[in-house]
Amino acid sequence: PLTLLLAAVLGYLLGSIPFGIVITRAFGLGDLREIGSGNIGATNVLRTGNKTAALLTLILDSGKGAAAVLIARALAPEDAVQLAGFAAFLGHCFPIWLGFRGGKGVATYLGTLLALFWPVGLASCATWAVVAAVTRYSSLSALIAAALSAGWSVLFGHTDMALLCILLALLIFIRHRANIERLMTGEEPRIGNRKS
Ligand code: G3P
Repeated sequence: PLTLLLAAVLGYLLGSIPFGIVITRAFGLGDLREIGSGNIGATNVLRTGNKTAALLTLILDSGKGAAAVLIARALAPEDAVQLAGFAAFLGHCFPIWLGFRGGKGVATYLGTLLALFWPVGLASCATWAVVAAVTRYSSLSALIAAALSAGWSVLFGHTDMALLCILLALLIFIRHRANIERLMTGEEPRIGNRKS
């Protein structure tokens, strides 16, 4: 139980580092919460027009999910590993430093899956990329990728990951409520479009 608690706390603390805000500020691009959708993720960093800052945010936000999993795997029994990734996701969405008002968790979810079992992570990244290439909607890509992850985990023989994938997908859908409304009314901005 102590290792489970440690994995959860460590994952949460790692996940709660708001790299989007840190990087946007470091690049002198202003307060990310005042830009575009106001979200703290890489998609919104891209709305500043700075692709390097957006890419760095994507790498670091996914990296913190992966790091939580890899650290837990090195230090704790296997049952703590999924918990660490889930905690990192929760940390990103509900960070203590921002009054629990965080992001939508997409990059952290992808990084977590990549570190848990890379074929499921890679298939989920590929799903995101294909939908993004076709539609140019970041949110829709995330929603479809999230909805399919549990299916990939079963297909690739890692059924023990399916419950986590379903839980993450549910939370990702809840965090994208405003995006879903905008998608339905045709008001969702496409990737690279600065308006939101
Ligand atoms: O990863 C978040 C993305 O799916 C939507 O971001 O800024 O368009 O709400 P945003």
